[in-house]
Amino acid sequence: MSEAAPVLKPEATIGILGGGQLGRMLALAAARLGFKCHVLAPSPDAPAFDVVHRVTAADYTDAEALDRFAQDVDVVTYEFENVPAETATFLAARVPVLPDPQILATTQDRLKEKTFVTGLGIGTAAFADVGAPEALAPALARLGKPAILKTRRFGYDGKGHATINNGTDPAAAWREVGGQPCILEAYVPFEREVSVVAARGRDGSVACFDVTENEHRDHILKISRVPAGIPEATADRARRIATTIAQTFDYIGVLAVEMFVLREGGALLVNEIAPRVHNSGHWTIDGASVSQFEQHIRAVAGWPLGKPVRLGRRVEMTNLIGSEVEDYRDWLAVPGAAVHLYGKTAVRPGRKMGHVTRVFAD
Ligand SMILES: Nc1ncnc2c1ncn2[C@@H]1O[C@H](COP(=O)(O)OP(=O)(O)O)[C@@H](O)[C@H]1O
Ligand SMILES: [Mg+2]
Repeated sequence: MSEAAPVLKPEATIGILGGGQLGRMLALAAARLGFKCHVLAPSPDAPAFDVVHRVTAADYTDAEALDRFAQDVDVVTYEFENVPAETATFLAARVPVLPDPQILATTQDRLKEKTFVTGLGIGTAAFADVGAPEALAPALARLGKPAILKTRRFGYDGKGHATINNGTDPAAAWREVGGQPCILEAYVPFEREVSVVAARGRDGSVACFDVTENEHRDHILKISRVPAGIPEATADRARRIATTIAQTFDYIGVLAVEMFVLREGGALLVNEIAPRVHNSGHWTIDGASVSQFEQHIRAVAGWPLGKPVRLGRRVEMTNLIGSEVEDYRDWLAVPGAAVHLYGKTAVRPGRKMGHVTRVFAD
C-alpha cells in the first residue's frame, strides 16, 4: 500500500484505528504538525476521542462505519495491533493503510512472530507450538522448566501467560490461559530487558531512538530508563536487529522490538515486536528532539523523519498504573517532572492511567 500513499499536506486527515492512550498521543503529535485526526474505536469513551477532530465509535467489523471512515481520511494507521486483519484489508481497498496490514498477520501471532524472527537469524527464547493440551508434555520435556505458556494471540501486559514450574500442573496452566492455541517458551534468565523504538520512512531510511531499559512489575512496564545500562556494542546490535526487522517488513512508521539481554556475554534475544508506537518510547515526548509519535506521523504522512537527539544525559519514564494515578498531584510538584494523564475515568488494577517523564541534565 505504501506506493499508493500520497505525501500529505498539513491540513490532511489521518485516520487512526484504536482509541487508547497511544492514539491520543499520536493525535496530539499530529495536531502539532497541522494534521487533523479521525479516530475509529469501539469504546464510546476512548481516551483518544477527547483530542481529535472527528470520532467514530464503532466496532472494527462495522463495514458501513469503516466505509464512511475511509472516505473521510487521507491515510489510515493504527495504535492497536489486534485490529482484525479483515478490517485492515477492507480499509486498504479504499485508502492507503500504513504500515502494511500484512505485517499484522505476523505480529498478531506469537508463533508466526518468533518463526519470522528466527528465520532472520535473530535469537529468541526456545519455543514450541502447543496447539492442543497433548502437545504440552512433549514441549516441556524439550524446553525444560521453568517455561512460560502464552496464548498465540491477543496477549498484552502479561495477560494470557502462565508460568510452569516444577510444582505446576500443566493441565491447570492450559486452563489458566483459556485453553487456546499457545506457544511454550523456555524461561530466559535475562540480566535486563531493553527495547528499540525505530521509525522507518517512505524512503526506506531508519531512525532508532536510544536503546531503552525496561523494568516490569507483574508483567507490566513500570519504568523505562535511557540510556540502557549496556555496552555501546550491545546497543549497536540491538539497533541493528530492529533495523533488520523494519527493513524486512518494508515497514512504514514506528515499531518497537522488545529484547532480553542475557547475563553471559550480553547476547540479545527478541521477545516481541510491536507494530506501533510503544510504551517504552513515551520518554521521547519530553526527552528527545522528536517524539516516537511525531516520527510515526511523519512516516505515514510521507514526510522526512527527524533525527532524534536525546535531551539530557538520562531520562526516566514511570507509568502510573491503576490507583497510582491518584498521586498525580505529588508528581506535579516534582522538579523537572512532566506529567501525562490519559483521561481514563475508570481506575482498574493494572490499567495504564498516565505516565511521568523526568529528564536529568547531569
Ligand atoms: N520467555 C521468557 N522468559 C522470561 N521472562 C519472560 C519471558 N517471556 C515474557 N517474560 C516476561 O513477561 C513480560 C511480558 O511478556 P511479553 O511476551 O512481552 O508479553 P506481553 O504481550 O504481555 O507484553 C516480559 O517483558 C518479561 O518480563
Ligand atoms: Mg511485551
